[in-house]
Amino acid sequence: AKDPVRVLVTGAAGQIGYALVPMIARGIMLGADQPVILHMLDIAPAAEALNGVKMELVDAAFPLLKGVVATTDVVEACTGVNIAVMVGGFPRKEGMERKDVMSKNVSIYKSQASALEKHAAANCKVLVVANPANTNALILKEFAPSIPEKNITCLTRLDHNRALGQISERLNVQVSDVKNVIIWGNHSSTQYPDVNHATVKTPAGEKPVRELVSDDQWLNSEFIAVVQQRGAAIIKARKFSSALSAASSACDHIRDWVLGTPEGTWVSMGVYSDGSYNVPSGLIYSFPVTCKNGEWCIVQGLSIDEYSRNKLDLTAKELSEEKDLAYSCLS
Ligand code: NAI
Repeated sequence: AKDPVRVLVTGAAGQIGYALVPMIARGIMLGADQPVILHMLDIAPAAEALNGVKMELVDAAFPLLKGVVATTDVVEACTGVNIAVMVGGFPRKEGMERKDVMSKNVSIYKSQASALEKHAAANCKVLVVANPANTNALILKEFAPSIPEKNITCLTRLDHNRALGQISERLNVQVSDVKNVIIWGNHSSTQYPDVNHATVKTPAGEKPVRELVSDDQWLNSEFIAVVQQRGAAIIKARKFSSALSAASSACDHIRDWVLGTPEGTWVSMGVYSDGSYNVPSGLIYSFPVTCKNGEWCIVQGLSIDEYSRNKLDLTAKELSEEKDLAYSCLS
């Protein structure tokens, strides 16, 4: 039998945490033959709720779940973890300035970076979900210099999956037959959902989405807007932000990273830019990536037309501004 993998979920008493921990305990994230030990962190006001989640995990009697650590102590939470899913953060409240929210999250991610750096297992893989996800991941990277930058990522897979979902609904095809959409840039409304390289499996072979959706107008405006604004639409409908889809996408992100992407398929991940596609290096930016042997690699050589170029640059600009704002909170 395999040794258990230790998976940290921060903010585990929250909405996404509640959807995510049972998925991990059922093997959705790491596979049905991979035992796990869950580490759950939350803050003191949520300690009782966190303990309730722990009780439910015990009650669910998951065969793969070999242990649960539920704590408000960051060091205890981070000790020995192989995977860290950072869902905890400070939400924007009404009337709060952007800078104040940033400042709270910068200090959270700075201190959690240090705890991971000192106490996590070597080669721990980190996924930041909490918003502003790209910039929180960047701060985490800066303050955990001994963790390889390749190991620090943020979640844009939800946006990627939303794009697959929209194409599948529009064409009335199975979502599993749609692939290779791309989310470029920030997990925010400036992200660029790009279908220029996406395809659909049909009885007559793989066809470009651009060929099947003849309505360019829809692809160039409504599709993009729907994906960009989907988070807000969920809040409007549910009165809470996306949780089950966020949790499921977080599992997809880690599973593909650890176990590999299928041949011929790429996914979107927020990763540390190396300057590919002329995206400024030093930002955590969402790119198309393939994964193999536990490592992601940015898909190279895709053609970028002028329309797309502007959109790639616009979301990069927003990320540079977020980075500056984050740094101004440090000093
Ligand atoms: P929530 O408010 O229900 O849960 C957040 C939890 O984090 C709470 O239990 C809170 O006590 C905890 N927390 C706060 N500060 C913490 C700290 N310093 N250490 C540990 N835990 C801490 O929020 P929800 O709905 O679960 O969302 C979590 C985050 O994920 C939010 O920032 C949200 O904006 C973001 N999000 C990101 C998505 C993405 O695609 N990247 C999609 C959906 C949400």
